[in-house]
Amino acid sequence: MLSVRSLVHRYADRTVLRLPALDLAAGEHCVLLGASGSGKTTLLHVLAGILRPSEGAVLLDDANLYQPPRGDRWRAERIGVVPQRLHLIDSLSALDNVRLAQSLVGRRDDAAADQTLTALSLGEQRLSRPSRLSTGQQQRIAIARAVVNRPRLLLADEPTSALDDGHADRAIDLLIQAADACGALLVVATHDARVRRRFARVIDLSPAVTP
Ligand SMILES: Nc1ncnc2c1ncn2[C@@H]1O[C@H](COP(=O)(O)OP(=O)(O)O)[C@@H](O)[C@H]1O
Ligand SMILES: [Mg+2]
Repeated sequence: MLSVRSLVHRYADRTVLRLPALDLAAGEHCVLLGASGSGKTTLLHVLAGILRPSEGAVLLDDANLYQPPRGDRWRAERIGVVPQRLHLIDSLSALDNVRLAQSLVGRRDDAAADQTLTALSLGEQRLSRPSRLSTGQQQRIAIARAVVNRPRLLLADEPTSALDDGHADRAIDLLIQAADACGALLVVATHDARVRRRFARVIDLSPAVTP
């Protein structure tokens, strides 16, 4: 379902990522491991369709992410991202942050937005601004925003970096549940060894590539 071929990424002349081949199936849960600087975020951005790699191809359900160039709507219909910094909009309620993702695909569906928040135990907080909520709750809004359009691919960047053990486990549980609820392929990037044991499939980017 997701295939990577002959991937290389360089910033200026420096090669930071090489991935000859990767094939992942729908519904798989996969962890992307590596020390800081090993290229995890770069790879997630490439898989998200927002960073064109220097070389190689990424295919999602046989459609090339970069050829032809794809628009925001094309990506938003297929790919959900929980970024490391959540990028929630604090002038909007939790619910409106989720609706914003729906507006990218031109589909306003209040019942779906409500249901998604409720499934993430945020039903009572749906009208709260993100800054009034805990870190874990904010992260759940970001997960809701990433899955409300029922993506094929769900990506999360360092989702446990700000969390203690119990909350880290819970965050991984929620990502797995949210991905399974839409049959999505889940890819989680982390340098957190606690997360590894939760995943059958491991892609290890360490050690960092040197030029
Ligand atoms: N926009 C950028 N321009 C130049 N270098 C970058 C940029 N983004 C990341 N890098 C460098 O690329 C390497 C990989 O970074 P990154 O993908 O963020 O790794 P990770 O997420 O594993 O910490 C690092 O050496 C980082 O400094
Ligand atoms: Mg990173």
